[in-house]
Amino acid sequence: MLLLVLPVLVEGQVKTLNERVDSVLRLMTLEEKIGQMNQYNCDKNATGPISINTDKAEQIKKGLVGSVLNVRTVANTRSIQELAMQSRLRIPLLFGLDVIHGYRTIFPIPLAESCTWDLDLIEKAARIAGKEAASSGIHWTFAPMVDIARDPRWGRIMEGAGEDTWLGSLVATARVRGFQGKGLGNTDAIMACAKHFAAYGAAEGGRDYNSVDMSLKQLNQVYLPPFKAAVDAGVATVMNSFNTINGVPATGNSYLQRDLLKGSWDFNGFVVSDWESIGEMVTHGYARDRKEAAMFAVKAGSDMDMQSRCYLDYLESLVKEGKVDEKLIDESVKRILLKKFEMGLFDDPFRFCSAEREKNEWNKPENLEFAREIAEKSIILLKNDKNLLPLNKKSVRIALIGPLVKSQTDNIGFWNISWPDDSLRIISLWDGMGSVFGFDRISYSKGCETDGTDKSGFDEAIKTAQRSDVVIVSVGERFDMSGEAKCRSDLHLPGIQEDLVMALISTGKPVIVLISAGRPLIFNRIAESAQAILYTWWLGTEAGNAIAAILSGDYNPSGKTTVTFPRAEGQIPFYYNHLNTGRPAGEKAISGITRTYKSNYIDIQSSPLYPFGYGLSYTSFKYGKMTLSKNNLDSKDTLEVSVAVKNVGRYAGEETVQLYIRDVAASSVRPIKELRGFKKIMLDPGESGKVKFRLTVDDLKFYNNDLQYIWEEGEFRIMVGPNSDELQEETVFWKKICR
Ligand code: BGC
Repeated sequence: MLLLVLPVLVEGQVKTLNERVDSVLRLMTLEEKIGQMNQYNCDKNATGPISINTDKAEQIKKGLVGSVLNVRTVANTRSIQELAMQSRLRIPLLFGLDVIHGYRTIFPIPLAESCTWDLDLIEKAARIAGKEAASSGIHWTFAPMVDIARDPRWGRIMEGAGEDTWLGSLVATARVRGFQGKGLGNTDAIMACAKHFAAYGAAEGGRDYNSVDMSLKQLNQVYLPPFKAAVDAGVATVMNSFNTINGVPATGNSYLQRDLLKGSWDFNGFVVSDWESIGEMVTHGYARDRKEAAMFAVKAGSDMDMQSRCYLDYLESLVKEGKVDEKLIDESVKRILLKKFEMGLFDDPFRFCSAEREKNEWNKPENLEFAREIAEKSIILLKNDKNLLPLNKKSVRIALIGPLVKSQTDNIGFWNISWPDDSLRIISLWDGMGSVFGFDRISYSKGCETDGTDKSGFDEAIKTAQRSDVVIVSVGERFDMSGEAKCRSDLHLPGIQEDLVMALISTGKPVIVLISAGRPLIFNRIAESAQAILYTWWLGTEAGNAIAAILSGDYNPSGKTTVTFPRAEGQIPFYYNHLNTGRPAGEKAISGITRTYKSNYIDIQSSPLYPFGYGLSYTSFKYGKMTLSKNNLDSKDTLEVSVAVKNVGRYAGEETVQLYIRDVAASSVRPIKELRGFKKIMLDPGESGKVKFRLTVDDLKFYNNDLQYIWEEGEFRIMVGPNSDELQEETVFWKKICR
C-alpha cells in the first residue's frame, strides 16, 4: 500500500503523524484536498445492503469525498471503503453516525442519564456504545451534544445533560472519555464530536434552528464551558451549529472557531459543519450565494462540509480567483488527515471491519444488564404519598393502562438506531411487569392514544381499573414528540392523556403515574391528585425491566432532575441559577415592608413544579448541620464543607448530596445559586455517613464585564442539601491577600 512507505519518524508519535500527514498532503491535487473536506450522507440509513447513488460512488472513486455518514455494519462500511480504495491516493473514508445513546444496546436518552448524577455510569454507557459501534465499522459519532438547555420547548433538550453548565461540563468529559476509550487508534474507540458549537440550545422561543443574540459574557459563562471541557478531554471533532449568534451564523463564525476553539483552546481536531449549515448561510441572509457561503465557512474555520456540497462546488474556483488562500485548505485537510492517521486507517482502512468483532459485540448480555442498571438509576420519583410505592410483589392485581404500556419504539426515543429484531429486544412496560409480577396478575387497557381527542377507550380503561387493586398509568410523549425540529409551544401531556389519568384517579383506586418523555412536561393536575408519580423519560432497550424493578422495589429510585420542571410555559426560560431581581418573588423589600410590586406572575406561583436537583427515594434522608473548616479564607485556602446524612427510612438507598454557592456582591451580578459539588452516598436503614466537599477560589471564578475570568473577594454563601430548593446555608469571607 502506498502510504506504508511514507517516512515514520522516531522522536514521538505526534510528530510522526504530522510528518506523515504532510507527506500525503504533498501528493494531493487541490481538487483532492477539497474532496477530503466533503462529507455525504449515504442514501439509505440501512442495515441491509447499502445503496449509494452512482454520482456519489463515482466521486468517492475519484477521491472527492472525505467522509460518509449514516452507513452502518461491517459489510456496508467495507463495501463503501472499497470504493475509496479505488481512488488515486487511496485515502480512507471516515464513517460517521449519530450514536447518541447507544448503538446496538440503547441506553436512556442523555437527559435521563444525566439524572443519575453518576459520571462513571455515563462514561460506561458511552464506552459500550463506542465499542459496539466501532465493532460495526463506525469510526465517528456525532455526540456528545453538550448544549446547555434552559428551555423545554426546545425538542433537543433530550439530547443534552440539562440546564447546568458545571454539571454539563463534567458529563461532557465523561461522554468524550467513554466514546474515545483509551484513545484513537484502538479498534474499540470511536471519535467523539462535541456539538453544536455554539449556543444552539438558546434558540429564541425554544424553536429549533432559531437565532441567538446574547452577550459574549453569557456565551462564555454559560454555553461554552462544556465545549471547553470536551476539548480538554481530547475530543477529536467539533460540530458547529445551525443558529446565528449575534447576527453571524455559527458556521461562519471566526470568533468561535478560530479565535477560541483553534486559538486559545488549542483544539487539534477538525470542525464539521452541521447538515447543510454552510449552504444555509444564504437562507440566513449572511452569504449572497453558495459560493460566498463556502468562502465564509472556510475562512471562519469550518473544516468539513456536511452534505451541502458548497466546498466541492466552489472552493477550487475561490482559490484560483485568489479569494481563498490555499493555506486555509491545507490547514483543514491536515486536521482531517491527522484524525485518519490517528485512527490507524492509513495503515489499514478496513481495521474497523472485522465481522468476528462485530459478532462478538452484538448481543452481549452484560450490555443489556448495564442498560437496565443505568435506566433504573435515571428514573425520578416525584411523588409517593402514603408510601404507595414500592408495590408488594405478591398481593396485587395491577391494571396497566395507557398508550405507552405496550410501546417498544417509544422507549428508544427520537435518536433511535433501529434494528430488524427490535420487536424481540426492546422491553415494554407490559413485558417488564409481567416478568416481575406474573402475567396472570396484570391486566391492560390502552385508554387513549398519545395524541388526538378520542375518548372512546376511557370506559373500558375505567372498568379495568375498577377490577384491580392498584392502577399504573403510562402516559407521555411518543418517540417523535421530542428531538430535532420537535419543538412544542404547549408542554402539557399531549392529547387527552391528562383526562385519562384524572378519570382513573376519580375511580378512587390508588394511581401511580409513569411519565415517559424527552423533556419535562407540565402536569399540574396530576401532580396535585395522583398518589405516586415516576418520571421515566425514554429509557432505552431495557425500559420495561427497569421500571418494573423500581415499581417492585428491587431498585430504590435515586434519580434527580437536571432540568427545572415548570408549572406553565409562560415561566420559560426557567432555570435554577438565575440572577436575582431587585424585587424577588416572595421577599420583603430591603426596607422590611412587604411589597406588592414584585417579580411574580399574578396567575401562577413563581416557583417550579419540581426544582433542579429534585428527586425522592423510598427511604428518607436526614441531613445534619453542615460544618465549615473556616469562615475567613485567603486566596490559597481550601474550604472544607462537610455534612452528615442519615438514612432514617426503611429501605437502603442512595442520596445525591448537592453543594451550591452564591457570590453575594460582584462587579457582574452572580446567580442566586450555582452548583459546585455533588456526592453520592449509599446508606442502609439507620446508617449515617459524612459527605465532604472542597472548594477553592477556582470555584468562585466568573467572566467579568471585560471578559476576564476572575474571582472577586467578598462574602459567599455556601449551601448544602438534597436539591436546589431545600438548602441550609452558611457564610464565608474570601480575601485576596494572604495573611
Ligand atoms: C443534526 C446533528 C446531526 C446531523 C447528522 C443534523 O440535522 O443537527 O446533530 O449530527 O444532523 O445526522
